[in-house]
Amino acid sequence: MIAAMLFSWLQGAGFYHDLHKQAVELLPPGNSKFWLDVGSGPGLVSRLAAQRGYQVMGIDSDAPSIQAAKLIAGSQGLSIDFRLGDAYHLPSETADVISAASLLAVLPDREKGLTSLWRAVRSGGSLLIIEPTDQMTTENAEKLIQQNDLPRKRIEGLRMWASARQGNIVTPAIFESLGTATAKFTPLLHGLVGGWVISKA
Ligand SMILES: C[S@@+](CC[C@H](N)C(=O)[O-])C[C@H]1O[C@@H](n2cnc3c(N)ncnc32)[C@H](O)[C@@H]1O
Repeated sequence: MIAAMLFSWLQGAGFYHDLHKQAVELLPPGNSKFWLDVGSGPGLVSRLAAQRGYQVMGIDSDAPSIQAAKLIAGSQGLSIDFRLGDAYHLPSETADVISAASLLAVLPDREKGLTSLWRAVRSGGSLLIIEPTDQMTTENAEKLIQQNDLPRKRIEGLRMWASARQGNIVTPAIFESLGTATAKFTPLLHGLVGGWVISKA
């Protein structure tokens, strides 16, 4: 319940919304292709993917988060299938796009989680990983806030995020465990966050 409330609040922050929108726009428009958002929380990436034309399912292991995701999407007139689900147990070759935003960092076994996500991507599809980088420090977050060019709504969420993630990020070396696939990196939020798109042949 607390996680659902916290992430509903954070997902309403201007900077958080904007960086995730930019990340979703790294993928082409959906034309009804299938997007699976794993660890959706209250569903921000799922909603952005639906607005980009994808048919979307969001899954999360936390029931209150799924409840919140259903409520928010419904209030915005978006038709998204939110269900309880586990990142470690995904059906193989199931979606054209799989996204995982701030999921790997909270998984006890990050490499196993990444392998499961990758296995679930259809051939010709893509995996989108969104995670803070090693630039996500309290000092850099404070500098960015003081520069004053980010939306102000719930900007204090950036301080909280940096303080939670500083020194505990997902290192990009993890993508090497996928073998030959190359991860294309795009800096988001002035490089404090990264978007990695990994395409499957
Ligand atoms: C840090 S939150 C991120 C939520 C959302 N993706 C975002 O970017 O705002 C991580 C989410 O992953 C979910 N989660 C953790 N372990 C999971 C697992 N094994 N399978 C599915 N979801 C999981 C949590 O319940 C939580 O909602």
